[in-house]
Amino acid sequence: MQGDAVQGDAVQADELQADWRWANTDDWEPPSELDTAIAHPARMYDYYLGGKDNFPADREAAERIIATVPYARLGARLNRQFLGRAVTFAAERGVRQFLDIGTGIPAVGSTSEVAHRVAPDARVVYVDNDPIVLTHARALLANHPAGYTTVIQADLREPAAILDHPGVRAAIDLAQPVALMLVAVLHFVREEENAAQVVAQLRDALAPGSMLILSHGSQDFITPETAEATAGIYSKSSAPLVLRDRAQIASFFDGFDLVEPGLVQLPLWRTDDVELPADWQHVSGYAGVGVKR
Ligand SMILES: C[S@@+](CC[C@H](N)C(=O)[O-])C[C@H]1O[C@@H](n2cnc3c(N)ncnc32)[C@H](O)[C@@H]1O
Repeated sequence: MQGDAVQGDAVQADELQADWRWANTDDWEPPSELDTAIAHPARMYDYYLGGKDNFPADREAAERIIATVPYARLGARLNRQFLGRAVTFAAERGVRQFLDIGTGIPAVGSTSEVAHRVAPDARVVYVDNDPIVLTHARALLANHPAGYTTVIQADLREPAAILDHPGVRAAIDLAQPVALMLVAVLHFVREEENAAQVVAQLRDALAPGSMLILSHGSQDFITPETAEATAGIYSKSSAPLVLRDRAQIASFFDGFDLVEPGLVQLPLWRTDDVELPADWQHVSGYAGVGVKR
């Protein structure tokens, strides 16, 4: 860990190491310097989840979000649970390749941990544009010479670079179904950055039977004032937050058939058998899984 981040990754790394099996990090270069002066979404999210891999600017911005949206931490937790249920769903239906874009700082309940529980032969490629994610992933992967998890640094806004990346090409056979995971990341891509085209380009590269696993922040369950204040705080971070309404988020599933229960408020995706925490209604985001036609 660098800079003045709170120490404590050893415990987290121990918990995770068993899960990280294979690193295709030959082309990885350490970031010259992490930008700690402004908040970064990966590190703010880490803070919401109770992680230690964040800096004062991240904590300050995250605390401002929590003061504005008291359910931010609950939302992050429930988002992780959605990720776990959706990955289990995809793996149980035979998907063996996961392209997880906007991975976040490694945390318990990661895509590879969940996928490998169902299918030890599943291949997982993690993609994030924040060097801190790579830093942690590299540390975790270093002692695992053989396995099925790859991590690359790339930007969702440049889908061709992701699809053509040697790490992706080595791990993923695009002729076979892939679970494309855009979990709590697309709301960092603005309209003028062609969010819809980015998703379409990724979709078009996938074989039929591939899945889109998506969650996305929305203004639909909060007041306009809260939405504006939230976006205002993120606008000073390294990535602006673009909340979208249900119709806008549903349009990302063009070319996919949504599986039951469809695109729903995030805490409600396949939670019939789960006791929801109090206040779940306040979590302002949607989640869904679609299968490519
Ligand atoms: C809120 S976290 C979500 C982490 C994880 N997907 C989850 O849902 O638990 C968002 C992640 O997306 C990453 N991210 C934001 N914009 C991105 C972009 N344009 N390309 C790749 N990753 C991005 C951030 O660095 C961060 O790690």
